[in-house]
Amino acid sequence: MSDKGVTRFSVSVPPKLLEDFDKAIGNMGYERSKAIRLAMQNFLTEYRWASEKGKEGVGALIMLYDHETRGLEEKLTEIQHEYRTLINSTTHIHLDDQNCLEILAVNGDVKATRSLAEILMKERGVKQLKLATLIV
Ligand code: NI
Repeated sequence: MSDKGVTRFSVSVPPKLLEDFDKAIGNMGYERSKAIRLAMQNFLTEYRWASEKGKEGVGALIMLYDHETRGLEEKLTEIQHEYRTLINSTTHIHLDDQNCLEILAVNGDVKATRSLAEILMKERGVKQLKLATLIV
């Protein structure tokens, strides 16, 4: 990303939205310009992931599942082997007697990453799944 210089622009928003925004960023210790820059970058990342045109991205797939569901762990491992070119690493955390948390670092084709998330989510015993995405 080229950050040579800055461009100033003005934006029209409802007063309540600005008030809530300023309150939130104040709590976070951000200045308005920095918060707007971060929001614009997140917007672009979402847009690029949504447009899926030959884009590469990085991210984390976070998954909570029931480890007592018969055959689930074998199935999840099998799926991860199929998508091994996309998955850089997997961290497994045994949360309690029943629940496991897995965090998959993903790096590669955006469309394939989304397919991986959908395939994992469909497995019985997968309770929650989130895909956090970034464009480098
Ligand atoms: Ni476990």
